[in-house]
Amino acid sequence: MQNKKFYVTTPIYYVNAAPHIGHAYTTILADVLARYHRLRGVPTFFLTGTDEHGQKVQRAAEKGAMTPQQQADQTVGRFQALWKKLDITHDDFIRTTETRHVRVVQQILQTLFDHGEIYRAEYDGGYCVPCERFYTGRELEAGTCRECGRALEPIRESNYFFRMSAYQAWLIDYIHEHPKFIQPDFRRNETLGFLQQPLNDLCISRPKSRLSWGIELPFDHDFVTYVWFDALVNYISAIGYLADDQRFQRWWPASYHLIGKDILTTHTVYWPTMLKAMNLPMPETIFAHGWWLVGDSKMSKSAGNVVNPIELADRYGVDAFRYFLMSEMTLGQDCNFSEEAFIRRYNADLANDLGNLLSRVMKLVTSHCGGKIPAATAEIVGADEQQLRQAVLNAATRMEECLDQMRLDLGLTAVASAVREANRYLEKRQPWTLAKQAEHGALNTVLYHAVETLRIVSGLLYPVMPTKMRELRQVLGLSATEPSLDQLKIWGKTVPGTPVGAMVSLFPRIQAGAPTQATTATGQPAALPQATPPTGVTLVEYADFAKISLRTATVLAAEKIEGTDKLLRLQVQCGEEKRQIVAGIALYYKPEELVDKTVVVVANLKPAKIRGVESQGMLLAASAENQLRLITVDGVLPSGAVVK
Ligand code: ME8
Ligand code: MG
Repeated sequence: MQNKKFYVTTPIYYVNAAPHIGHAYTTILADVLARYHRLRGVPTFFLTGTDEHGQKVQRAAEKGAMTPQQQADQTVGRFQALWKKLDITHDDFIRTTETRHVRVVQQILQTLFDHGEIYRAEYDGGYCVPCERFYTGRELEAGTCRECGRALEPIRESNYFFRMSAYQAWLIDYIHEHPKFIQPDFRRNETLGFLQQPLNDLCISRPKSRLSWGIELPFDHDFVTYVWFDALVNYISAIGYLADDQRFQRWWPASYHLIGKDILTTHTVYWPTMLKAMNLPMPETIFAHGWWLVGDSKMSKSAGNVVNPIELADRYGVDAFRYFLMSEMTLGQDCNFSEEAFIRRYNADLANDLGNLLSRVMKLVTSHCGGKIPAATAEIVGADEQQLRQAVLNAATRMEECLDQMRLDLGLTAVASAVREANRYLEKRQPWTLAKQAEHGALNTVLYHAVETLRIVSGLLYPVMPTKMRELRQVLGLSATEPSLDQLKIWGKTVPGTPVGAMVSLFPRIQAGAPTQATTATGQPAALPQATPPTGVTLVEYADFAKISLRTATVLAAEKIEGTDKLLRLQVQCGEEKRQIVAGIALYYKPEELVDKTVVVVANLKPAKIRGVESQGMLLAASAENQLRLITVDGVLPSGAVVK
C-alpha cells in the first residue's frame, strides 16, 4: 500500500439546486479517505466538481429566468463555499463547462465515431428528466423510471448511439473476475442482475432543437451529447487525459469512485463500457454508499426534504458534523437523519467520552504536575496499563484495516471504544485520589498513559476532525505538524516534560434544547416512562444503551466444538458480513435446528477466543431455570437489520 498512489473521486453534482447533507456526505467521506492516505504518506489526488449540462440544469435555469451558464455559475459558488466551510481538501474542482473538459469529451466522441463505436439511428423511447435517463424496449413498458419511479416523458427522434451492447459479455466477465471492482458486494450483484437482461446501445445525443445546453457533437453540429457521456469523462479529463499524458498516467486508474447507490448503473455499466471502448484501464473500485433518509424517503432536492449542511455545521461545529456523518452511517447502508441522533452521538462520543478524558487529564497535569507531561514509572506499569495500551493500539490497527476494507464507520467505533476504555481506566486507577495521597509515581504513570491515549486517538481522528484534533494536540503540547499514521501504532512517543497549553472546552455538551422530544427511528415521538427499575438493575442512560449494536443475522451453518458439550460454532450472515460466533447453546439446540434461523446478535462486541475459537459477537437468548430459547424476529426481515 505504502508506495501506491491514491486517486479518489466524488460524483460531480448537478448545479440545479443547492447542496444538501447527501452531497456533503460523499464529499466528506472522500476528504477523510484522502486525508488518511496523506497521513500514511501515500501520494493522493482528490477530485470533486460539478455537472453543469443537461435538461435538469436547463430547466432550473428557465425557472429562475437565467441562462444555464448563469444558473451554473451561481450554484457552483454554493458548492465551493460549502466545501471550504467543511474543510474539504480536494486537489481539483472540475466543472463540465470548462474548456479543458469540453475539449476532451469532443475528442473522445470523434475517436469513437471514427472507429464505428457511435452510429446514428431512429430513437423511440421515454426519458426521465430528474435522473437524465433514457428508456427503450422492455424498460419503457413500465412507463415509469426504474431509478426514481417518476413518469417518463415520451420521445421520438433521430439520434446517435454508442455500441454499449457489444461490451455486455466482456463486462459480465470483468465484474466476475474483479470482486473489488464494484463494492459493497450486494451492489455488485445488483449490477450483475441488471446485466442479465440484454443491454441496449446507449443513446448519447440530443437534438439541439430540444436541448441546447450541452457539448456539441464534433461530427454533427445539430446535436449535443448526453449529459452522462459528458459527466463521467470528468474523472479522466481532470487529470490530463489527452492533454498531459504524464499526469494522466500518474493518477489513472482511480482507486475509488465514491458514489451514492442512485447512480450505480451509470458508473458500473456505462462508464466501464465507455472506458473499454477507449481502451483505458478500469477504475479499481466503484463504491456505492447508501442514502440519508428523512423518515422513509431519500433526502433529495426534488423531494424537498433536504437538511442544509451549513446550518448544522454552524449550530454544532464543522468537525462535529463531519464526525456525525462518518460514524453514524454504516458504509453501504441507508441511514436515517435526525437532529436527535446527532445530539445523542455528539454528547455520547465527543462531549462525554473524548471531552471528558481531555479535561480530566488537563486538570490533573496542570494542578499536580506543574503543567508538564509526567513520565511513567516502569515498575508501576501493570495489568490495567497493559489493557489500556492494548485497546488503544488495537484501535490504530483496526482503523488501518477498516480503511482498506472501506469500513471507516467501524474504524471510528474502535477509536470511540478506546476512549471509553481510557475513561474506565481513570475511574479504576483514581488519579484524583492518588494526587491527594501524594502517590506521585502512580499518578504520573496513570497520567502518562492517559496522555499517550489522547495522542494516538487524536491522530486517528485527525482526518475526520482536523481542526478540533489540531487544537487538542496543541493543548497537549504535541507537535503542530500532522501526525503520521505509523507513529500512531507505537506506544510511548509522547515526550515527558512537554508543557501543556491552556485548557479548552473542545466539545461543550449540547443541552437538550431545541429538539426536546426523543423520537423513534420512524420519527414517532417515543414514550419515555419514568419506571422504577427491577431491583438489582442499574439504570443506564439511553446513550449507553445505544452503544450496543444489536442486529439480526441468519445462521448459515452450525457445528459442535470438539471437546466441549456446551459450545456450538455458528457461521452467520449479518447484512453483508459473515461472522463466526461461539455460543453456549449446545445443550438446548441441535446444530441442524439452527440453520436458516434468524437470530439477534450483539454486533459490536470485541472479538474473543473461546476454547481457542474466535467468536465475533454474541447471540441473544432468554433463559429461565433449565431452559434456553434464542431471541428471534417476529416475521421476515433481511439479516443485518438493526434491533433497538
Ligand atoms: O447524480 N444520501 O448528481 P446529483 C446520500 N451529476 N448521498 C446523496 C443523497 C442522499 N440522500 N443525495 C445525493 C448526479 N447524494 C450526477 C453525477 S457523476 C459523473 C455525475 C450524493 O447532484 C450521492 O453521492 O444528483 C449521489 O450519488 C450524488 O449526491 C448525486 O448527486
Ligand atoms: Mg440526483
